[in-house]
Amino acid sequence: MDDFSYKQGTLHCESVDLQTLARQFGTPLYVYSQQTIVDHYSRIAGAFASLAPKICYSVKSCSNLSILAVLKEVGACFDVVSGGELARALEVGVDPKRIVFAGVGKTDHEINAALEAGIGWFNVESEQELETLASLAAKRDTIAQVALRVNPDVDPQTHRHTTTGKRETKFGVDLQRAARVFEAFAKTPAINLAGVHVHIGSPVNHIEPYVESIKRTLDLVVQLRRRGLTISAMNIGGGYGAHYCGEEAPTAADYASHIVPLLQGENLEVMLEPGRSISANAGVLIAETIFKKSSGEKKFVIVDAAMTDLIRPALYDAFHFVWPITPARGMIPPRRSQDLQLEGTELVDVVGPVCETGDFLAKDRWLPPMARGDLICIYSAGAYGFSMSNQYNSRPRAAEVLVHGDKSKLIRRRETYEDLVALERGE
Ligand SMILES: Cc1ncc(COP(=O)(O)O)c(C=O)c1O
Repeated sequence: MDDFSYKQGTLHCESVDLQTLARQFGTPLYVYSQQTIVDHYSRIAGAFASLAPKICYSVKSCSNLSILAVLKEVGACFDVVSGGELARALEVGVDPKRIVFAGVGKTDHEINAALEAGIGWFNVESEQELETLASLAAKRDTIAQVALRVNPDVDPQTHRHTTTGKRETKFGVDLQRAARVFEAFAKTPAINLAGVHVHIGSPVNHIEPYVESIKRTLDLVVQLRRRGLTISAMNIGGGYGAHYCGEEAPTAADYASHIVPLLQGENLEVMLEPGRSISANAGVLIAETIFKKSSGEKKFVIVDAAMTDLIRPALYDAFHFVWPITPARGMIPPRRSQDLQLEGTELVDVVGPVCETGDFLAKDRWLPPMARGDLICIYSAGAYGFSMSNQYNSRPRAAEVLVHGDKSKLIRRRETYEDLVALERGE
């Protein structure tokens, strides 16, 4: 699952003691395991190898340059959703042809930057975007390679905020309209509309929605080919699960065993856009206990990390397993799960210092007794953790550290109060 484990009573990332890292770099602190990142990528690449796909890591899930560089080294392509993410991918020297650009609202500025770079594929989501891309590409005397994002109207059975493949979402073009769009833009100069893109949501811990959406999209491909159109690529998106409360996500091999047979022999270049299945379990957030307090029946452990560092619990009611880094009385958790109630634990909420009732990291958890200064680990925080962090309440963003074997490297320094105000000072 990952490379975080207890050794001699203290949680380690690979061979590095997290207590030592917290003392060295301070808290709140994001720590990533290079070994886990590479392992997760390799499992996906291995499972889908017979399709020779492009595995386009979803930069938005965890976009630190050092992590992108690790993935570039092992052969990943990149899925970006903004000009900023494009700049990050280019910054680490990714071959632009290995970049796909998704997003429902690309600005002219962003489209121009991607045309200028010469990226591999634009994943386009509307007729107006196609018109705009065609006109901007024509001005540059270039041809943009385009996949149309289709909306297969499949329920991914996930949180409503991360459901994207149902008919009434803002994403993509529904299958009925998609055929007409392909025909309407087939001869448009400056774009080569030759691919279909489908992404139904995330995390999707069931395989059936993928199977259904790929089957529906393949039907469209057959229909379009019958009408004489050339469709050379299918991007099947991301959303593959991660382990948040146990071992709930199917493995890459499980997904592949159902998906690969559908696409084999279809004469399509296949692309995938995994994010969290690579990065979620590869990162943790470490926080220090500031205070403990009781309010009515409730007990709170107030830590120095907050919704500003990890917004998933507040935004999606997401579950993250939490446990002390050096638990009292040597209480090492036998597993990570939602219902762990060991003897000697107490029921608490783990909350942050932000002035919002929604500022919590874990609710109603049985934890070993925590004291002021004790460190706690918030697991599976590598995806949509730091990348969704913000400075609300004027809180400087956390530092990030990458571990490899027995080595650790600061890959983003902690923000300072000076960073908070630097852009607001006059000349
Ligand atoms: C189009 C697209 N591709 C890929 C992803 C990555 O999803 P995940 O990180 O769950 O794999 C997302 C995330 O929402 C997305 O919108």
